[in-house]
Amino acid sequence: MKIFLDTADVPTILKHFETGLIDGITTNPSLIKKSGRDPLDVYRELMIAGVPDISMEVVEDMEFEARRLAAEFGEVCTIKVPCTPEGLKVCKQLSDDGVRVNVTLIFNAAQAILSAKAGATYVSPFIGRLDDNSVAGLEVVRSISEVYRVQNVKTQILAASIRDVYKVSRAYWNGAHIVTMPPKIFEGMYKHILTDKGLEIFDKDYQDSKKSVFNPPPFATTKHGKDLDSF
Ligand code: G3P
Repeated sequence: MKIFLDTADVPTILKHFETGLIDGITTNPSLIKKSGRDPLDVYRELMIAGVPDISMEVVEDMEFEARRLAAEFGEVCTIKVPCTPEGLKVCKQLSDDGVRVNVTLIFNAAQAILSAKAGATYVSPFIGRLDDNSVAGLEVVRSISEVYRVQNVKTQILAASIRDVYKVSRAYWNGAHIVTMPPKIFEGMYKHILTDKGLEIFDKDYQDSKKSVFNPPPFATTKHGKDLDSF
């Protein structure tokens, strides 16, 4: 069960990577555009920081670009291609050569089947965008998971387009091996109102108890009312 962050914002990634809970990063052209940075600089900084798995999407001249990225980034590189005839052709060629490929923009089990046939390491069903179009995204994850299970397929399901914390646990429950999420959702996973409330009570009780246990009790002061420490 792995957690990826879905962003190209390097400072935010590094902050969360320090927790030891992040297994990889997914980017796409929209996230790179939002970062305002050269994608190669983003990938290089993440590689230097030790991020073990970075999805890098190729758009033009896909095979050439993918091989260039694989040559520079080696083990940390996962090539991201769309589920199109050209994308899956590149997927097959790279997978045969031992490069991890993430087939993105997956919206049904049929696309996941073709991706698995093309040797994909990951398929990325877009849960939020399915929900936006009145199709239950989690059901699509479930159907891919069932097909892969019955057919003993090794391709992993990387649930993407996650818009709320609830979907994270449901995606794993429905068979996702990995969930990639915006940093805000990752931060939200720590939170529960009862955790905050419970902490408030524990903190107050701890402070009260510290006062009575560690502070000198009234009989430890002099008859003049001076604290023993003042002698
Ligand atoms: O990983 C895909 C993701 O970035 C898409 O998310 O919210 O734009 O549908 P969203």
